[in-house]
Amino acid sequence: MCSAPRPLGFDQRHLLGIEGLQPWAIQDLLDRADGYVDLNRSPDKKRPLLKGLTQINLFFEPSTRTQTSFELAGKRLSADVVNMSVRSSAVKKGETLIDTAMTLNAMHPDVLVVRHQDSGAVALLARHVNCAVVNAGDGQHEHPTQALLDALTIRRRKGRLAGLTVAICGDVLHSRVARSNLLLLSAMGARTRVVAPPTLLPTDVHLYGCEVFHDMERGLEGVDIVMMLRLQLERMEGAFFPSVREYFRLFGLSHEKLARAKPDALVMHPGPMNRGVEIDGLIADDIERSAILEQVELGVAVRMGVLEVLTRELRGER
Ligand code: NCD
Repeated sequence: MCSAPRPLGFDQRHLLGIEGLQPWAIQDLLDRADGYVDLNRSPDKKRPLLKGLTQINLFFEPSTRTQTSFELAGKRLSADVVNMSVRSSAVKKGETLIDTAMTLNAMHPDVLVVRHQDSGAVALLARHVNCAVVNAGDGQHEHPTQALLDALTIRRRKGRLAGLTVAICGDVLHSRVARSNLLLLSAMGARTRVVAPPTLLPTDVHLYGCEVFHDMERGLEGVDIVMMLRLQLERMEGAFFPSVREYFRLFGLSHEKLARAKPDALVMHPGPMNRGVEIDGLIADDIERSAILEQVELGVAVRMGVLEVLTRELRGER
């Protein structure tokens, strides 16, 4: 009888989402990313690992953190990195997503990093190219590298993921960050809660194995991690809550509400944040409580880890 070979680590061609990833593959990505944190803090940040390889960042939606960190990650590993913003591309002239993908593919990139406003668009594009594709956020669907950098932040601060209770609060309905985090955290043995008004929750939220709260004070009771989400007004048609003032009163993170969480609970936010809407600016800036800038810092290391595993075969490693 032959037994299945023990997996060596992340073994996919693309990183399109957290869905379907095994805990050992997530662990492998987190461990590799962790290995880049000190390098990124040192004066000599460059390594020759991706020398000769080409990475194209194709962003159909605006981005500060994600695009910059993918660019830095590629450059620190010595890839040739090209940033294509849709503002200046032929997409504005009516080229379809598939035509754009096939055009870029003809130039032999090794990695395509794609952000798109439509859920599923990145997976569709991946079917038309020969290179590795990384989903840098597709519509309301997934944002796998954000969930990985959130997990790395938690793991470094708390020493583990399993057994922690994480409350994901706010506009869960429109959030690809929430979806990827719910999948990753439960795969890694954390307990998850969502805290939101009913209008800002997906109808299938119960499928994610999380507890659901509509009252923030109760939802934050005893949690280890408070993960706030941005109110994604650009994805809303019509009114989902009475007013921004009312939203902050009920679902904004204030000192009073945070006092319900564990005394050492960590506050997180993927950014960009709306101060005074979903979070009190003083909490966001409190370096004792908030890990928001650490999330940004670790984002570069996570993207380096992802680029490393996706190019393993190209580099003759296996
Ligand atoms: C998130 C995104 O784009 O999904 N931001 C990010 O990547 N740091 C969250 C958001 O836009 O609110």
